[in-house]
Amino acid sequence: MNASALNLLEIRDVRGGYAEVDILNGIDLALTPGEILTVAGTNGAGKSTLAKAVVGLLPRVSGEIRFEGVVINAVPTEKRAALGIGYVPQVANIFPSLSVQENLEVVVGVTNARARMAELFDVFPALAERRRTRAGAMSGGERQQLAYARALMTRPRLVVLDEPTAALSPMLVAETFKRIEALPAMGASVLLIEQRARQALAISHRGAILDGGKVALEGPASTLLADERAAALYLGQAH
Ligand SMILES: Nc1ncnc2c1ncn2[C@@H]1O[C@H](COP(=O)(O)OP(=O)(O)OP(=O)(O)O)[C@@H](O)[C@H]1O
Ligand SMILES: [Mg+2]
Repeated sequence: MNASALNLLEIRDVRGGYAEVDILNGIDLALTPGEILTVAGTNGAGKSTLAKAVVGLLPRVSGEIRFEGVVINAVPTEKRAALGIGYVPQVANIFPSLSVQENLEVVVGVTNARARMAELFDVFPALAERRRTRAGAMSGGERQQLAYARALMTRPRLVVLDEPTAALSPMLVAETFKRIEALPAMGASVLLIEQRARQALAISHRGAILDGGKVALEGPASTLLADERAAALYLGQAH
């Protein structure tokens, strides 16, 4: 068995950006099944751009992105979702005018959608209570839960979360990290992009710190938490 087969996600020498300028300058990262990997770094380091490259929303990408051993560079976003990659963007992608239940029903490519919705209502009881509420009328924390539930409808084996705790109250931040920590038990590995690096690393197996579109540091979460250079790289961003 080669190394690629053991990795759920493998990013090799990935470069690219939105126009002619490269934002990602040669990223190498891998994620094994069951793992939570935190990607931290200051504003503009390229974290969201990396997430977009993984889910197929970056206009220009070179290098290799493999999911379950298969190169997916040329696979369009919807097909990556169908392959098992879920995504919650930095700005939550819900339909404000639809109810909670309708937001879940419109997710495409779900087998046995009713059963899956019932499972997710067990995981997110607050959403079950509000299933007929218009999403736009819910709190930020509830909308965030709905965005997760939408991403989980297809039973992804990888979820890419882009700053899931931004704009949440401290209490909701702790609750959100608990939910994320529970994702591997639901069958999903996590690429967790976070500016709250310390809290994110505390629930992660490994971490990587981006700087200028490159991986400046990478290693076990516990090592990064104790690393002064790592702290310096995300200092001012950690909460
Ligand atoms: N749609 C876009 N078009 C052109 N340039 C962009 C676009 N989105 C981001 N960029 C540029 O790419 C660089 C990296 O942005 P990115 O959003 O990946 O950073 P980030 O690490 O996610 O930052 P933050 O912590 O603020 O979310 C920035 O210089 C930004 O200006
Ligand atoms: Mg970002």
